[in-house]
Amino acid sequence: MVFPTTDSPNFDWLIQSDRVHRCLYTDPALFELEMERIFGGTWNYLGHDSELPQPGSFVRRTLGRRPILLTWGRDGQIHGLFNRCTHRGTLLVTADRGCSQRLTCPYHGWCFDLDGHLHTLPVAESYANPHKASFHLGQLRVETYRGLIFGTLAADPPKLANWLGAALPWLDEHLNRHPKGTIRLLDSPVRLEFAGNWKLLWDNAADGIHATFAHRSYNQLGHQAKTKTVLARNPASTPMVSQTLGHGHCVVDQRPGIPGGPWSTMRQLPTCEELEGSLRAQYPPELLDLATGNMVNLSLFPNLILVGNQLMVIEPLAVDRTRINLYLAVATDVPEEINLLRLRVDEDFVSFGTPDDLAIFERIQEGLGIPEEEWLDISRGEQAGDRQDDWGRVTGSIASEAPIRAYWQEWKRLMREPVPLKVRRAVVRD
Ligand code: FES
Repeated sequence: MVFPTTDSPNFDWLIQSDRVHRCLYTDPALFELEMERIFGGTWNYLGHDSELPQPGSFVRRTLGRRPILLTWGRDGQIHGLFNRCTHRGTLLVTADRGCSQRLTCPYHGWCFDLDGHLHTLPVAESYANPHKASFHLGQLRVETYRGLIFGTLAADPPKLANWLGAALPWLDEHLNRHPKGTIRLLDSPVRLEFAGNWKLLWDNAADGIHATFAHRSYNQLGHQAKTKTVLARNPASTPMVSQTLGHGHCVVDQRPGIPGGPWSTMRQLPTCEELEGSLRAQYPPELLDLATGNMVNLSLFPNLILVGNQLMVIEPLAVDRTRINLYLAVATDVPEEINLLRLRVDEDFVSFGTPDDLAIFERIQEGLGIPEEEWLDISRGEQAGDRQDDWGRVTGSIASEAPIRAYWQEWKRLMREPVPLKVRRAVVRD
């Protein structure tokens, strides 16, 4: 712990307008506080309702390292349950997903309904009170917005729509470009891990400058293929913009820099030529834009980034270890070629671009190990071109670090004024 003489860290000192302290990325005690106050006290993305296709469906998730199950219970509701037997703590489910009438603990056979009720207690007569309310599984509060499922342990959280706030129109736009406004997630995410702190992803999410340098080899591939890659430009002189959206959320809109539309930025990939040819022969060319992302990266603090056609879910594992889960969203009610193209397009950056980011994150984490160099600079754009509206939202070029400064303010708010947490439980049935 880096604060041996104080009960509470001095967050105003650690997070200043133009710099943040290295210990925010390296201190294990602060990391534990984050798991409680940020990954417990605010809304976190947990999953999508297309991952729960029928009653009895469940998927395994985490909420700040707490093992969680999302379930479709027999009451017709989606539940967020602690994946922990209430007897002596055994993890109930180890499969990533499945469908079951009930969940049975492998240790002593306690059996739970998918709404969290304890259904069967073997040798019940040996317990003083076999119907104790605390025997039902612990639950978090869950709300859904257009298929996206969020959960929180906050006792009295804001309504999900209010928390999304200014990000809501951007999320609507993301979904509305699909027929009937719906997406479906493929079952298995791409999982990547890096030896670095989870907030390095937030520092990177709206950082338009890094793409020119860190993704140089990816840009070179595009250049060789004669495509209009957007990452290789001078980031300070493109019309692309970033905007802060409150609650730590932000968006990067690349579209002003892409007059030819999203498909014009795609280089040739295996099988793409045939798929593109098939679509062009049958449909208007604009349909091809549905095969790519909409060139708007929307980041919902603290753990979801919509980038391309993927939902990137951030999973902190330790102060210096993070897992990234990349879920591919496919469109429903579209020609099959569109979703096949989505697969190819999304493999492209994950294969040739994301490794650059992971390597940089690990280099940063190692660099932050020098205790005598205390500060990280986040001042870019503050005095040069950012515009703030009446609601405090800041719009700037993609070279601005305003989104970084904004998420740190939300981080500080959540860490300094922790909200009460509450474990919910099903009520005892008659
Ligand atoms: Fe689960 Fe005993 S620990 S039934």
